Amino acid sequence: MKVFQHVTDLGDLNVALAEAQEVKRDRYQWQHLGRNKTALLIFFNNSLRTRLSTQKAAMNLGMNVIVLDVNQGAWKLETERGVVMDGDKSEHLLEAIPVMASYCDLIGVRSFARFESREDDYEEKILNQFIRYSGRPVFFMESATVHPLQAFADLITIEEQTPSPLPLKGERGHLQDQVPSQIHSTLPLEGESLRVGELCSGMRGGGLCPGRPIKVVLSWAPHPKALPQAVPNSFAEWMLAASQQGLGIDFVITHPEGYELDPQFAAGACVEYDQMKAFEGADFVYAKNWSCPGVTRPEDYGKVLHDYHTMMDWCVSARQMAVTNDAHFMHCLPVRRNMIVTDDVIESPRSLVIPEAANREISAQVVLKRMLEAL
Ligand code: CP
Repeated sequence: MKVFQHVTDLGDLNVALAEAQEVKRDRYQWQHLGRNKTALLIFFNNSLRTRLSTQKAAMNLGMNVIVLDVNQGAWKLETERGVVMDGDKSEHLLEAIPVMASYCDLIGVRSFARFESREDDYEEKILNQFIRYSGRPVFFMESATVHPLQAFADLITIEEQTPSPLPLKGERGHLQDQVPSQIHSTLPLEGESLRVGELCSGMRGGGLCPGRPIKVVLSWAPHPKALPQAVPNSFAEWMLAASQQGLGIDFVITHPEGYELDPQFAAGACVEYDQMKAFEGADFVYAKNWSCPGVTRPEDYGKVLHDYHTMMDWCVSARQMAVTNDAHFMHCLPVRRNMIVTDDVIESPRSLVIPEAANREISAQVVLKRMLEAL
């Protein structure tokens, strides 16, 4: 693998999910792959999970790791060609990229949407320069439009937390009282018994949950600031790909009008503007804020469309969760409590925010392992 950006870069998701479980069984068994190899992690933006989990994954594989925070201690980088560099930026990305690449074998980059130009953001102007000029495999650690390491971790988490067969509302019994880690420990591992994703491979409507598809809902939620669309874009892309590959997922997106996601990621998803209706019978609820993607309202790209005080009924609370199929709550973190989700929902035994974050180490390790194998 030379680039990790889209779900298609990973190929068959059943194979990738099985590989993730193989990593979980013994994450140190490939240390020979990373010996004398260096991963360079470049951050143009803040991070807690991506920084730590990707470092850990690289160390699990025996790699050396260099982390660069571009805006803290490095020269400020100019990213536009043709600019007269008489401002505060002392170095150009076109020199910095090959220099950085000369010190490493793999490069991970985090560079968020800047909201200056939809075209620049959606063309991935920064990340594409790394792909073009570094000569190294490049993995996206959240770019202007995608966050594939998060979406892969989310899919791993959904598979792990899907009982087989999935109980219907009111039939969950003992699972209801277990914390997520306990539920996980009751699920079969690869080789122990059925691998749920393989059961219905190629069969839409079966897959993760034999008997019926699971319902996964991506819900917009309020936020005081304009946030990028990378997480919802990737989550939609990965859920739809999982559905198309027969993993048995019915995927629904709910948001106020104007927040329609770009069709390159969300085409084929069911969009329901009534949040309560969307939540009915859901098995997994994934909450996230995003700013206007500029699809139905191009002039509002990157904007918050309404004063958040008027949108607080979109905050995920017990009211919405009550109409679900005792759904798991998911969020990529960091999360603003009582904006996106209430305290009681995020603290409930059905909340998966910690297992999701833990699975970031696993998703990163599968990706780095594949890149090392292809060197
Ligand atoms: N979910 C996620 O990517 O977290 P960080 O922004 O802390 O890396």
